[in-house]
Amino acid sequence: MVRTTALLAATAALALHAQAEGIYGKTSGVLQITGMDYDRVIAKSNYTSIVEFYAPWCGHCKNLKPAYETAAKSLAGIAKVAAVNCDEEINKPFCGQMGVQGFPTLKIVRPSKKPGKPKVEDYQGARSAKGIVDAVKDKVPNIVKRLNDKSLAGWLQENKDSAKAILFSDKGVVSATIRALAIDFAGLVSVAQVKKSEKAAVEKYGITEFPSLILIPAGSDDSIKHEGKVDKAAMVDFLSQVAPPNPDCPAPKEKRSKAKRDDKKVSKSSSKFAKASASHKSADASSAAATATDETVEEPIVPTKSPSPNVKDEDTPKPIVIPAEDIKPTIPLIAESAELQSLCLNEKSKTCILAILPKDESSEAAKTAVASLASIHKKYDAAGARLFPFVGVTASNPVAASLLTTLGLGSDEQVHLIATHGKRAWYKKYPSTAFSAEEIEKWVDSIRMDEGKKEKLPNSILVAGEKPDATAEKVAEPEPVKIEVEEVPDEPETQPEHNEL
Ligand SMILES: *[C@@H]1O[C@H](CO)[C@@H](O)[C@H](O)[C@H]1NC(C)=O
Repeated sequence: MVRTTALLAATAALALHAQAEGIYGKTSGVLQITGMDYDRVIAKSNYTSIVEFYAPWCGHCKNLKPAYETAAKSLAGIAKVAAVNCDEEINKPFCGQMGVQGFPTLKIVRPSKKPGKPKVEDYQGARSAKGIVDAVKDKVPNIVKRLNDKSLAGWLQENKDSAKAILFSDKGVVSATIRALAIDFAGLVSVAQVKKSEKAAVEKYGITEFPSLILIPAGSDDSIKHEGKVDKAAMVDFLSQVAPPNPDCPAPKEKRSKAKRDDKKVSKSSSKFAKASASHKSADASSAAATATDETVEEPIVPTKSPSPNVKDEDTPKPIVIPAEDIKPTIPLIAESAELQSLCLNEKSKTCILAILPKDESSEAAKTAVASLASIHKKYDAAGARLFPFVGVTASNPVAASLLTTLGLGSDEQVHLIATHGKRAWYKKYPSTAFSAEEIEKWVDSIRMDEGKKEKLPNSILVAGEKPDATAEKVAEPEPVKIEVEEVPDEPETQPEHNEL
């Protein structure tokens, strides 16, 4: 029978346990998305996004997490901060398509002229909240018109029939907050910015404080001045009196009255990403504020405060490296054909890695291959990550023998590694005769990422889809990751403030 039934069961249990959990929790400002959400949430958005591709077991990903969450808070209402768990079975093809080669990989995605065809570029900067926030803000598209005394009248005339908003500012630079505000109301409210030094314009609207935001309803010459705090949420509320913002708007839509009453708080919102950021506790607010304050309506200020203590700066994407451990674990060795078929070679089975071992299991190559496979699986298990089963089977097993001949793998005196997927009827051959853990892990990664050439697994190899047992089924069918749209907890919270505007 099976020599290591217990080990097999343990592997399955671990796999089950580790399944699916992403590293970003429900209260995180980071949107957990799947490959299926990407198009709708990111690619077709009018907003700029940053997307992290990660694996939950990856150390550099865990190191990045606090900085990434801080960045998400700072960017709330300005850009989307998302993460894709590439360890999820359903996301693997997507992560592969996006060219992800190591974890974490960060990509900035922003709208181009062609709707639905965004520009995607790798973020290669510092893995710090500030580095990420600055880079993302820099990529927020600008549809805010900069006006002076001369151009004001023409712009008013041109936009006669639409609602208009003008920000009067000390500065000429259009901040990311105002750029995001203009995107919130793209097609609904034309947004412009006028510098304090434009005396005639300032006088025309009786502006005495900077920044000041005014709203000019469609078809009207009268202006309404925004009172209270000039922050993102309050400004969205203010402009919402003429039109609700675009559906994708990351800023508050609800609780307007509250926002108006209490200008110390960023109002909560029904929009999923403002909501996510709104749910942070006050304990986090101070560290968020350190970066949040670098955004003002007036200009991007280079912050003098040091970034959050959690910030890690050093990492660049790194391929997964196997720790040089002195371990002699093993992988399950299956002797029975039926067992092999029920685990890996039926019409319902998912990815398996089979090590077909020579009759002489004590050959150097066999020992090396088994030890390498075991160390790779052990690493995943230790990290609580789900990985498909690795199974050893000797060439004397009739099913293995038939794999060798049917797939033309070669001599039964050598080690052969193949990946199989019964349900999709493909297999992939390990292309080398070097069985070091490093080499094999590269290959395992390519399978995880759904890369590399697949060959057709002949039906003769597969037994009819017997119902896999409950455990196998659980492992095989990860639940899709959902975007977090939970309600904000009701308890009162101190919101990270966005600025001192
Ligand atoms: C994107 O902007 C356009 C106007 O330019 C607007 O009509 C559309 O609703 C916006 N899309 C989303 C998803 O907000």
